[in-house]
Amino acid sequence: MNQKDYISENKQKFLNELLELLKIPSISADSKYKSDLVKAAEYVKSSLLEAGCDHSELCPTEGHPIVYGEKIFDASLPTILVYGHYDVQPPDPLELWDSPPFEPVIKNEKIYARGACDDKGQMFMHVKALETMMETDSLPCNVKFMIEGEEEVGSDSLGDFVKQNKEKLKADVILISDTSIIANDIPSITSGLRGLSYMEVKVVGPNRDLHSGVYGGAVDNPINVLCEMIAKLKDENGRITIPGFYDKVEELSEEVRAKMAKRPFDLDEYKSDLGIEEVNGEEGYSTIERVGIRPTLDVNGIWGGYTGEGAKTVLPSEAQAKISMRLVPDQDTDEIADLFAKHFKSLAPKSVKVTVTKHHGGQPSVTDVDSLAFQAASAAFKDTFDKEPIPSREGGSIPIVALFKEELGLDSLLMGFGLDSDAIHSPNEHYGLFNFYIGIETICRFYQHFSKMAG
Ligand code: BES
Ligand code: ZN
Repeated sequence: MNQKDYISENKQKFLNELLELLKIPSISADSKYKSDLVKAAEYVKSSLLEAGCDHSELCPTEGHPIVYGEKIFDASLPTILVYGHYDVQPPDPLELWDSPPFEPVIKNEKIYARGACDDKGQMFMHVKALETMMETDSLPCNVKFMIEGEEEVGSDSLGDFVKQNKEKLKADVILISDTSIIANDIPSITSGLRGLSYMEVKVVGPNRDLHSGVYGGAVDNPINVLCEMIAKLKDENGRITIPGFYDKVEELSEEVRAKMAKRPFDLDEYKSDLGIEEVNGEEGYSTIERVGIRPTLDVNGIWGGYTGEGAKTVLPSEAQAKISMRLVPDQDTDEIADLFAKHFKSLAPKSVKVTVTKHHGGQPSVTDVDSLAFQAASAAFKDTFDKEPIPSREGGSIPIVALFKEELGLDSLLMGFGLDSDAIHSPNEHYGLFNFYIGIETICRFYQHFSKMAG
């Protein structure tokens, strides 16, 4: 039987197995779910063994376990190292889900569940691709799997694991499906990802909460101050005001920008999908550029004072915010974090004390579009979508990609099949059945082309 037929005959089985994985609430950010992360890891491990790995194990870490698996049959053949993650983002706000996040349902040819696309659905395509190749006697190379449970919280343990297991992880290329295509009829291969610096700030004013009538107007309110400080982080042109922030930003030539602009993009559809009348961002750049090749800064959360039911007239003692910056080559995550901290503190009036702490971050990365792997992926997409894929720089981050390059000397090929509209990290996350099945097929084709080209 050929690969396509095997996939076609096993559609329901593949789907049922994915649904079982989606039922496990493997939320890495919340320690309450620690045992569910182990459960999800165990599930991935047994799926790998069933699919045909000779060996699979859970590698314990200080955080959540890493699942390792391999099928090696000839050391002289190329080796593909698959990376993915079985952890998911918290599902909040729960009330905005049409169906419970860990009770997957199929609606309009899409799987609705937290992690359906990011990344359980996409990671599981690789397990099923291995099964397909094993069952059709068509695995043309060696394969290793490294599936972690901390991607959504910064991949701390994976960094150490990679550094300590260089020999075990030896490969020719890393293959990742944790990104998107432009549209189901416009295939694309991710050619770059943004980096990240994630900060938390605290503004403290008076030594206790105050009556806002007795003291209001005379004592600085930390929430007001925090908002004013945040407002100063961008100017009227949408440029970030942190001194030195843009110093290392790679400016692309007009020629490269013109080529990127040819990528199909429907602004009206984009706006209507989000329910907004207007887009906004750094002046002089298109929407595609604003998320692909430009850095940015966003407040991810802000709190302080009274947020309960009804009204409480309080002048709070403190206010806090989480602020993240998406970075592009050649910005450095640590440098940007330091520049932010220095600048943010300089914005504070004498009436408050400011502390800035650094959360996880990651370096931006770009893929060489002339590499063997990129060419093999292009050929694979052409086989399955019947169209030449377009290289596309994406706005999200997979910080570990830069670390793979640094520690293992390996390039990552980012072959994702999600859509921007899949609502990852949002309520009602979903993944198209079309994407799930064509992803499995395209991955199999990639193995074929890559092995031929690299062998
Ligand atoms: N799959 C995403 C990254 C992504 C999404 C890349 C869409 C390209 C397009 C990944 O799981 C993710 O969300 N990463 C985090 C990284 C962070 C927690 C360090 C992100 O981008 O916020
Ligand atoms: Zn994610």
